[in-house]
Amino acid sequence: MNNQHWQAEQYAADFDFVPLYGTALFDLIAAPKGSTVLDLGCGNGTLTAKLAALGYQVQGLDASPELTALARRDHPELSFMQGDAVVFELREPVDVIFSNAVFHWIDAELQPALLEHAAAALKPGGELVCEFGGYGNNAMIHQALSAAFARRGLQYKMPFFFPTIGQYGPLVEQAGMQVRLALLFDRMTPLKGQQGLRDWIYMFVSQPFAGLTDAVKDDIIAETVDALRSVLYIKGQWYADYVRLRLRAVKAEQTAA
Ligand code: BEZ
Repeated sequence: MNNQHWQAEQYAADFDFVPLYGTALFDLIAAPKGSTVLDLGCGNGTLTAKLAALGYQVQGLDASPELTALARRDHPELSFMQGDAVVFELREPVDVIFSNAVFHWIDAELQPALLEHAAAALKPGGELVCEFGGYGNNAMIHQALSAAFARRGLQYKMPFFFPTIGQYGPLVEQAGMQVRLALLFDRMTPLKGQQGLRDWIYMFVSQPFAGLTDAVKDDIIAETVDALRSVLYIKGQWYADYVRLRLRAVKAEQTAA
C-alpha cells in the first residue's frame, strides 16, 4: 500500500471533485435500495453519505485515520471503520462493494489480495462497482516529473498502479468475480485555483520525494508545473490528464453441491 498521509481538511476543501465524479458510478449499482453497501476507501465519507441518502445501508472503510476521523465527524449517523483494503474482513457479507478513486493507490502485487478480500466480503451474486486511475492516467504529469528528476540525476518511481482492462479483468476473474462492464476513458479534469496543478502534485505525489529536501522538492515541482503550462493550462484553467478505469463485476452465485 502506498504510504500516503492525507491532509484531510485540504483534501475535502480543494479536491471535492474526486467524490463528485464518483456519483456517476451510482447508476451501475444493480442492487435495489435497502441493499447493504461497503464504500471501500471511503475517504471523508462524502459518497458513503450520498449512498445512504439514496436508501442503501452503508458502511465505510478507509486506511487513513485522518480521513476516517473526518468521515465520523461529518456523518456521525453512519458507520466508518479504519482498515486496510488488502486485509479487511467484514462480520457479514454485503450486497455491493463500491469504490471510487482508491484502487490505484494499491501496489500491483497487492491487487490480488485486495480483490480476494473484496470477493470474500460479497454475498454470492453480490457486485463490485469501482472506478480508479487506468492505464495512462496523469501520464503527462508523471512524465514531466520524471524528466525533472532525471535532470538532477534522480530516478522518478511512479507511485501508482494504473492498469489496462486487459491486465485488470483477469485479476478480477481470478478472485472469483465475473466482469460485466469495463471501460477505460479519458477525463480531462479541471483543478481548483491558479495553483491548481502545483497543489495537486503536493497533495497526491509524495512518495517519490522521500529523502529529498523541501528545497529540491519545491524546485522539481515548480519546474514540472512550468513544463506543463503549455498543455495543461487552458484558457486560465489548470487541468489534470485523468484516465479512468470503470468496472462492474459480479461474484459467482453458489452452485448446488
Ligand atoms: C486518480 O483519481 O486517478 C488519482 C488521484 C490522485 C493521484 C493519482 C491518481
